[in-house]
Amino acid sequence: MARERARGAAASNQALGMPTDSFCYDGDTLLCDGVPLADIARAEGTPAYVYSAAAIEGACAALEQAFGGYPHRLHYALKANSTLAITRLMRRLGTGVDANSVGEIEVALRTGFLPDDIVFTGVGKRPDEIERAVALGVHAINAESAGEIDRIAAAARARGGRARVAVRINPDVDAGTHPYITTGIRGSRFGVPIDEAAALCRRIAVNPSLRLVGLHVHVGSQIFDVTPLRRAAESLVRVAHGLADDGIAIEHLDIGGGVGVAYDGGASLSAADYASAILPVVSPTGLTLLLEPGRVIVAPAGVLLARVIDIKGGGGSAAIAVLDAGMTELIRPALYGAYHRIEPVVRRQGSQQEYEIVGPLCETSDGFGGARRMAPLEVGDVLAIRDAGGYGSAMASNYNRRLFAPEVLVEERRWRVIRRRQTIDDLLALEE
Ligand code: LLP
Repeated sequence: MARERARGAAASNQALGMPTDSFCYDGDTLLCDGVPLADIARAEGTPAYVYSAAAIEGACAALEQAFGGYPHRLHYALKANSTLAITRLMRRLGTGVDANSVGEIEVALRTGFLPDDIVFTGVGKRPDEIERAVALGVHAINAESAGEIDRIAAAARARGGRARVAVRINPDVDAGTHPYITTGIRGSRFGVPIDEAAALCRRIAVNPSLRLVGLHVHVGSQIFDVTPLRRAAESLVRVAHGLADDGIAIEHLDIGGGVGVAYDGGASLSAADYASAILPVVSPTGLTLLLEPGRVIVAPAGVLLARVIDIKGGGGSAAIAVLDAGMTELIRPALYGAYHRIEPVVRRQGSQQEYEIVGPLCETSDGFGGARRMAPLEVGDVLAIRDAGGYGSAMASNYNRRLFAPEVLVEERRWRVIRRRQTIDDLLALEE
């Protein structure tokens, strides 16, 4: 993630090309929508996640506005962050969801989404997951293979119903992003090879237990260049034209997610540029456009608060600041070498020093970055790890028997705990 390695110092942020000031300094105090993050750390302890509702709303509004002139629907990718209050907020904002497991489907239902608001994606769907999605009658099951289509048909036939299916196409488009989150290259596990898609769609069209409703693509995540996104959309349109020629009508084209977040605080792909790359390709079809944004909606809207619990070394070499958060709370740096800005919640004076910022686990990859220049740190200082609202708490683990951090939502200058800190009793409740 080359982009993520660059260094940025400003507290402000960009989402979809629109500067947001949800996180900014007032003097030396870092605020989230007017609330000092130090106050939240004091009250709730650390580590803790803090999200800005306004930033989430702003990102949604930017996408809605950019695509507003064309029939479309945002299906927020729950995998980025499906904490109930965040999911409820998305519902209030009028989006649908993209669920990637039956667990995410249940979260959607419990937060008030209707089956018709849900698209269900997943490289491997268990029989019980297919059964549940068919029984609910979700808006689309994004099918990944010929075998899966047969299993969906069997589940629908057994119920005497008809399942709404979209075919996920692998367009052989390289998203040019981190290999771990590249999903559109031929031979990868994702989707149906583009040259097999039409035949598969025709099979679906004649199956009385299935209804072919759309075509789906998702070529990767953390994408800054519109070219792969446009080429993926072009692939869908090509297949859709072929189907139309055969008299097979569908309802929608789903272009997945993937819009990148500038973790260095720099410029990101703007919603307007994204829309102007996609809409000219899709609009001649007249088909409804579905989008599955995840990261770009929630990542810039969240920070992880962590406290310095030890400082080692220094004197010539970079000092090591050990935090009370690590890969168990935010695994992205350890897993992808991802860069996240780190800012003190209360700025100190003094000449800048270099720190390696690490987590407390006995894993050399556990950390948040080396050579970070900041004013002298002291044990007890609280730092904000930026852009942690997406794929942060959602990817947390209990490794080392560490407890899930609480999550806080700031809304209209007030804050509340939307998920309490896990206790050791919560953690052990499942065990003999
Ligand atoms: N739709 C599908 C089918 C997906 O697989 C994904 C993400 C999305 C939508 C949302 O993509 P987004 O807009 O968030 O880029 N854990 C990684 C990201 C994995 C993304 C996987 N798929 C990370 O922390 O960078």
